[in-house]
Amino acid sequence: MQQDLETPRLRLRPVSPADRDDLFALEQDPQVMRFLNGGRPTPLDGTDPSVDFLMPRGTEQDVWSAREKVSGAFVGWFALYDRGDGSAELGYRLRRAVWGLGYASEGARALVEAGFSCFGFARIIANTMAINEASRRVLEKTGFTHVRTFHVEGLDRLPGAEHGDVEYEIRRKA
Ligand SMILES: CC(C)(COP(=O)(O)OP(=O)(O)OC[C@H]1O[C@@H](n2cnc3c(N)ncnc32)[C@H](O)[C@@H]1OP(=O)(O)O)[C@@H](O)C(=O)NCCC(=O)NCCS
Repeated sequence: MQQDLETPRLRLRPVSPADRDDLFALEQDPQVMRFLNGGRPTPLDGTDPSVDFLMPRGTEQDVWSAREKVSGAFVGWFALYDRGDGSAELGYRLRRAVWGLGYASEGARALVEAGFSCFGFARIIANTMAINEASRRVLEKTGFTHVRTFHVEGLDRLPGAEHGDVEYEIRRKA
């Protein structure tokens, strides 16, 4: 999936170690991380146990950095994780400065299209906290439908976790 992608306003490139500082800086904004780890800053040395696949550092195969075409400015990342069963999971995280401009929907649409037409997935899913209305709206605008609401037990529970997580999906047209 190491392929450059374009949207009308964004250039998406597979992440590289040169993106590390931008990726890390994104995680220092508590509002950006509110629904991911409760807004805790992550230490750069990677010693935080919560640093996992949700904390890309520039070496991942399935994460794209997104930059504005016009300015070259880093706006965030998009990911399409291969689940190994013909399906993939979509993820995204954008800088607060660019929220509300439609970038998440634009990038998500590009990944979904590439996921079906270039990478051969038959189904793409996405999960988010039920209370993450902006993320749910992005998924709905991108053509995803709500599949289920579920509750994950035993994890570090974030405020709002009592409302559960939601899973959305979109399927390749036959
Ligand atoms: C979720 C996120 C990617 C959205 O990015 P974005 O570029 O602002 O998204 P878009 O502009 O494409 O669309 C956002 C939509 O949500 C709506 N929205 C935003 N906040 C909302 C809220 N609190 N309640 C309801 N709708 C909301 C916007 O109005 C817009 O819908 P519209 O176009 O119909 O008006 C961004 O907020 C983000 O990176 N958040 C932190 C990381 C995160 O939560 N990632 C997802 C975790 S699974």
